Amino acid sequence: MHTPDLMEKVISLCKRRGFVFQSSEIYGGLNGVFDYGPLGVELKRNLKNAWWQAMIHHRDDVVGLDSGILMHSMVWKASGHADSFSDPFVKCPACSRHFRLDKVFEEIQTSPWFQALAKSMEKPQDAGFLLRWAKGPGKSLAPNLSLVKDPEVTFSYIADLHLAFKGATLKFEDFVRRLGSDDRGIAHTPCPNCGASLPDEGVAANLMLKTSLGPVEETAEKVYLRPETAQGIFVNFTNVLDSTHRKLPFGIAQTGKSFRNEVTTKNFIFRSREFEQMEIEYFCRPEQAEKFYQEWIETRFNWYLSLGLNQEKLRHRMHANDELAHYAAGCTDIEYLFPFGWSELEGIANRGDYDLKQHAKFSGKDLQYQDPVTNEKFYPHVIEPSGGCDRGTLAFLVDAYHEEVVKDSTRVVMKFHPKLAPIKVAVLPLLKKNDGIVALAKKIKSELQKDIVCVYDDSAAIGKLYRRQDEVGTVFCVTVDVQSLEDGQVTVRHRDTMLQERISVERLHQYLKERL
Ligand code: GAP
Repeated sequence: MHTPDLMEKVISLCKRRGFVFQSSEIYGGLNGVFDYGPLGVELKRNLKNAWWQAMIHHRDDVVGLDSGILMHSMVWKASGHADSFSDPFVKCPACSRHFRLDKVFEEIQTSPWFQALAKSMEKPQDAGFLLRWAKGPGKSLAPNLSLVKDPEVTFSYIADLHLAFKGATLKFEDFVRRLGSDDRGIAHTPCPNCGASLPDEGVAANLMLKTSLGPVEETAEKVYLRPETAQGIFVNFTNVLDSTHRKLPFGIAQTGKSFRNEVTTKNFIFRSREFEQMEIEYFCRPEQAEKFYQEWIETRFNWYLSLGLNQEKLRHRMHANDELAHYAAGCTDIEYLFPFGWSELEGIANRGDYDLKQHAKFSGKDLQYQDPVTNEKFYPHVIEPSGGCDRGTLAFLVDAYHEEVVKDSTRVVMKFHPKLAPIKVAVLPLLKKNDGIVALAKKIKSELQKDIVCVYDDSAAIGKLYRRQDEVGTVFCVTVDVQSLEDGQVTVRHRDTMLQERISVERLHQYLKERL
């Protein structure tokens, strides 16, 4: 199910209220890079903190790490990234856009020209409607599509087209490729942007971004900006082991920036060129790997649920054998139903002993684990739960977005879990010209802000202030009114239910802390 409207609404809210901005916007923007505004940085930081707390502080078997973004270039030789970290892509000969070969059909499915075509196919049609579409809307939407450029000829190649409309088994891919038949009737995948025939073979380009270290360009050392945080963990395996005296099983976790020269950067912060990951490498005895693999799938799934993500929009997807790396014993994605369809939020991989063995081979160092009781030496196996902060942030943003009709007007409310909400409490004076009310509201705010993220706002009437806070997901609004000056009580308004209750100023701090 695609809900593009929701995506547009969330993107617009993100910009309007300061969650996420396009990078370098005043210069026309930098494709695939985003900046987090005042509220976005709080939301993303809350997400990372929740992860760190649950995965490290609340467990006995995982420790943290913060390794450098730049690493020795041999790291990427050993990991395989230098030689084979690529997504084959195709370039449209007409409009010069690039597309990932493995994602072209997904892109076509959501392209304006195919969406328009699919819409006109919703009602039963005679076969001639394709010609009408080609000579009508197709001209502006997909000017380079064979069907549009040469309708009669292409149409004649679509021999069994009518079968498709009768629900026969013409596959989406086959149908689409027939629309792009060339003048000899050979089918081609059309460009999702302009409809021109794309090359059948993809070109592989390494996804890692390069930079150089050293002041003199010619002699500077070429290094990569890491494409994942995981390798920083593997190369520190013995450092952590020796300094912490850990015994198997144990994990090393880190969050941090990663960089990939992605071919396509669609869907806002879902796939960008600079992003943050939250990764754990969990080391265990080989015979326990399957058990911990299953446990981590469950642990990570439940973590998303614990922060309020809608269970109906979350699912597992086990990788088929032909999707797995040659060394991997299994991989399961946690997928979320984004407005553009089910997509990966996090992957949990059972990686065997590949990574440590590779680094041992390339570095010449002994990276084996020695059992303290039996003295047996071996390479631990690794379970890797690897998630993205930006993808996580996007999932929580779209999941939180709600529109409700209240008294004939629409209230937009971001129902973030209290742990994730960027602002926990807003303190609002009912009358900003009443010195007593303003003084009490400011006093309450300065008391609360010692350990609760809160704001003070007196820039509009109370109804408007509530709506503004709802739109950014503020969990509670505390309103100070004339009566507060007499009875020492304030109104606490709950974001989701809009219920209001009177709470004494003395009890307020405790009351809020218990609910956040
Ligand atoms: N160490 C394993 C690894 O990096 P991955 O599936 O390539 O695996 C893990 O990435 C997670 O990182 C993904 O599930 C996703 O959440 C996030 N991620 C990967 N590429 C991304 C991109 N270009 N933009 C945003 N997030 C990305």
